Amino acid sequence: MTAFNLRAEVERLAALPSPPRDLALPVVEALLEALERGEVRAAEPRPGKGWTVHSWVKRGILLGFRVGVNTEVHVPPVFHFRDRDTFPARGAPPSDDVRVVPGGTTLRRGAFLGPGVVVMPPAFVNVGAYVGEGVMVDSHALVGSCAQIGSRVHLSAGAQIGGVLEPVGALPVIVEDDVLVGGGCGIFEGTLVRAGAVLGAGVVLTRAVTVVDLVRQSVHRAVRGMPLVIPERAVVVPGARPASGEFARAHGVFLQAPVIVKYRDDKTDVATALEGWLR
Ligand SMILES: CC(C)(COP(=O)(O)OP(=O)(O)OC[C@H]1O[C@@H](n2cnc3c(N)ncnc32)[C@H](O)[C@@H]1OP(=O)(O)O)[C@@H](O)C(=O)NCCC(=O)NCCS
Repeated sequence: MTAFNLRAEVERLAALPSPPRDLALPVVEALLEALERGEVRAAEPRPGKGWTVHSWVKRGILLGFRVGVNTEVHVPPVFHFRDRDTFPARGAPPSDDVRVVPGGTTLRRGAFLGPGVVVMPPAFVNVGAYVGEGVMVDSHALVGSCAQIGSRVHLSAGAQIGGVLEPVGALPVIVEDDVLVGGGCGIFEGTLVRAGAVLGAGVVLTRAVTVVDLVRQSVHRAVRGMPLVIPERAVVVPGARPASGEFARAHGVFLQAPVIVKYRDDKTDVATALEGWLR
């Protein structure tokens, strides 16, 4: 099935109030295979034109949930799961340089892993996620549904990259090439992190967050229909700003507001240098 036909079939079946399972299963299967091969993506970069979001991919995945039935899944000797039969776990890609280290990781069907990816356990890479070449997914990291992770990104321990399926969101989270996502960070609600940015440990980015740029003396926020965008090579650390209103002031209340303290320099490169032997 070509990508064009696949899209047409997904759109046709997803528009039905009760899509017939027997007709939908081969389409969902073809979609998952195309996603795993990286031929179809929930969003893709267009050189010089930013990102194009393919919302039909999300509709196709949701179609899989609609027509799937819950089934027992046993992975002897200890694992016992129950999930939609349309979205079983997938194995590691049959590529010599991809490593999925034993210990409780799940790669769900429809997830793409590029060459040289290392996944430390436990991690969860959800359906539709795209994990680019040479990415390190460290322990307790989540790569949410349809999230797009560029090449050579480091997702540190506990980093949470939100998905697009729930809560319902239109835009997948996008992390471009060469970004370092520090330990315990959270990137949610379609946030776009531009190439080379560094998120210090504990930074949380959502549509509601105001990011204060001390270098360029500006603020970054999500606006209607557009995600929060972190500029290229920005170094973002956790920060706070006073909550508005007299009461908040009287009680010394602050809201979290990530701060761009600098743009990446040699010192940052040293602080974020990664151990090549681990890859
Ligand atoms: C952001 C980071 C890379 C530091 O980058 P850097 O370029 O060396 O930053 P600098 O030391 O030049 O700091 C610039 C300013 O930001 C502040 N700053 C730096 N990191 C900060 C942090 N994490 N939280 C709060 N402030 C921070 C510094 O105090 C400094 O402020 P000042 O100019 O007022 O003194 C580092 O703090 C960090 O968070 N690394 C990720 C660690 C991690 O999660 N590792 C996981 C591996 S599994």
